[in-house]
Amino acid sequence: MTDRYAVIGNPIGHSKSPAIHAAFARATGEDIAYVALLAPLDGFAATVRHFAAGGGRGVNVTVPFKQEAYALADERSESARAALAANVLDVRDGRFFAHNTDGVGLLRDLTVNLRCEVRGRRVLLMGAGGASWGVLGPLIEARPACLTVVNRTVDKAEALVRHFAQAAGDCVLEGVAYDALAASAYDLVINATSAGLADAMPAVSGAVFGPQTLAYDMVYGKVTPFMRFARDRGARAIDGTGMLAEQAAESFYIWRGVRPDTAAVIAMLRSEAAGGRPAA
Ligand code: ATR
Repeated sequence: MTDRYAVIGNPIGHSKSPAIHAAFARATGEDIAYVALLAPLDGFAATVRHFAAGGGRGVNVTVPFKQEAYALADERSESARAALAANVLDVRDGRFFAHNTDGVGLLRDLTVNLRCEVRGRRVLLMGAGGASWGVLGPLIEARPACLTVVNRTVDKAEALVRHFAQAAGDCVLEGVAYDALAASAYDLVINATSAGLADAMPAVSGAVFGPQTLAYDMVYGKVTPFMRFARDRGARAIDGTGMLAEQAAESFYIWRGVRPDTAAVIAMLRSEAAGGRPAA
């Protein structure tokens, strides 16, 4: 029997997850089917329960349902508890286990694929919405020397930093507004705002970028204004394609106990984004 999985969101038409998981299944020989499901904005729980009742073994959860997925779970991993949100539900004997693989996905892309050292480095995280909540725990665990969260609405940056203060240890963790940022370059600048989706960028000073900076946009599949701005200031800039593939691989591992290789999938996604034909 083919095991069934789904990604649930609203909107969901743009999702790359079915293609990614189909590629993982082919490469690993796992017998799964994976579809995209649109849930009504007031119907996430009903959609998940209906899918599970019909034999669904697990779901990925995307915008705007990650907090709801966390809330409806019967059990929650440490990663989900830190983020107060879940992008993975694993269905076992009718019970829902919540996980959050976004942070692990980002860290794996940074440290393994991009060979970017985080330990001991200066890191700037832009944004204090759901995307930042998902990645801040794993970022702190990678032990940067300092981690600054900057947000247009400074209260949200401060609330996020307060939630993780205990975990920070030696890492200097602070939440600030854009105009309060020190005028010096960071080693890693991560854009976790949704600005790039609207072809905008946060009002960040060019001084945070230097030739040693890796500028990482969690938006994927396009060159964002943030990436162009960083490149113009000598930084290396990259989009979130690798994170997308890595969070999916971690989901696949949770469900199937098999860790798929991501290199071919990342190449396929980049080729599609460049207008090329998908890899075979
Ligand atoms: P998500 O859950 O996808 O992260 P969200 O909770 O709406 O979405 O958060 C979006 C983030 O992008 C917020 O940090 C938002 O800043 P505010 O909290 O000040 O609204 C940030 N953001 C979106 N557009 C932005 C822009 N043009 N400039 C700066 N920050 C922006």
